[in-house]
Amino acid sequence: MKEKLEAIRKQAEAELDGLTSPEQIESFRVAVLGKKGELTSILKMMGKLSAEERPVMGQLANDVRAFIEEKITEKSKEIKEKEMQKEIDSMPIFDVSAPSDLSRGSYHPITLVQRECENVFKSMGFAVENYSEIVTDYECFEALNIPKHHPARDMQDTYYLENGQLLKSHTSAAQNAIYKKYRDSLINDGLPIKAIFPGRCFRNEATDACHENTFFQMEGVMVDKDISISNLIYFMKTMLSEVFRKDIKVRLRPGFFPFVEPGFELDISCLICGGEGCPSCKHSGWLELCPCGMIHPEVLKAGGIDPEEYTGFAFGLGLTRLAMMKYGVKDIRDLNSGSLKSLSQFTDDE
Ligand code: DAH
Repeated sequence: MKEKLEAIRKQAEAELDGLTSPEQIESFRVAVLGKKGELTSILKMMGKLSAEERPVMGQLANDVRAFIEEKITEKSKEIKEKEMQKEIDSMPIFDVSAPSDLSRGSYHPITLVQRECENVFKSMGFAVENYSEIVTDYECFEALNIPKHHPARDMQDTYYLENGQLLKSHTSAAQNAIYKKYRDSLINDGLPIKAIFPGRCFRNEATDACHENTFFQMEGVMVDKDISISNLIYFMKTMLSEVFRKDIKVRLRPGFFPFVEPGFELDISCLICGGEGCPSCKHSGWLELCPCGMIHPEVLKAGGIDPEEYTGFAFGLGLTRLAMMKYGVKDIRDLNSGSLKSLSQFTDDE
């Protein structure tokens, strides 16, 4: 039996050497170690051995089995590595210096409109501020004169985080921080607060061609002594005429927002018909574009500014809406689609 076991070990080693695929290895394993395999059939004969011989042969048989198993593992690893190398070798070589046949990327239409607005406001002395997308309930609502349980919260179905913070539902959420940042230079140095803060906003909207759960706004504020509605109209009219590259007529209608008093809806003369009336403006000649108003005294107070001494205006421009108007985008969902076919149409502008 000893010779037989040794012979199996030698033969197994030699056979394994010539194997080249995982399938071959598996049939080899079954043929030698399987239930009906060579080694197993020898083990079945153990019973016929004498009591002294049995443990010795048993030990040897186990050694042979362990030896063969180890060889199988080694060989499988070797074959796998060879196969992987073969696959790597068959891959086309990536040449970093080869000229690209991909077309150039393009700016997103919202980025284009945002930059245009920023440039116009910068030229009028406004600072451009960046603000977090995650804010506190205080910043988004309380500091804007919207206490807990105020019905105005219903207008913005908000995404709350587990830690009590939230995804900002409007760029107005940055107002409080902006007032606090600039109030010292306003009060001590007499420098007016003039800032815009574009940003992404989130609301739990049912999406359709006009509604998205993620959209962009651009908030703007100006605070100084004797700021009036005339200042608001002037800045908005100038900015919109620049962005649309034609003289834009604006009008104000009353609108309610808890953080402004009085509050307005700012309409612009229809871009399609110039105010004559057409299906795009529902034959009114006007398009609703930008809610705005005079900053509420409570909001100034929350920002550490005395409303008896200072006044200001604020507006919340819908950047997404503006981009749709400017570029004639009919479905808001195209803007977040990542579809290069839709988005790359706007490259020419830059
Ligand atoms: N934050 C408001 C919204 O998203 C829009 C808004 C209204 C902003 C009036 C303002 C404002 O600054 O004065 O619904």
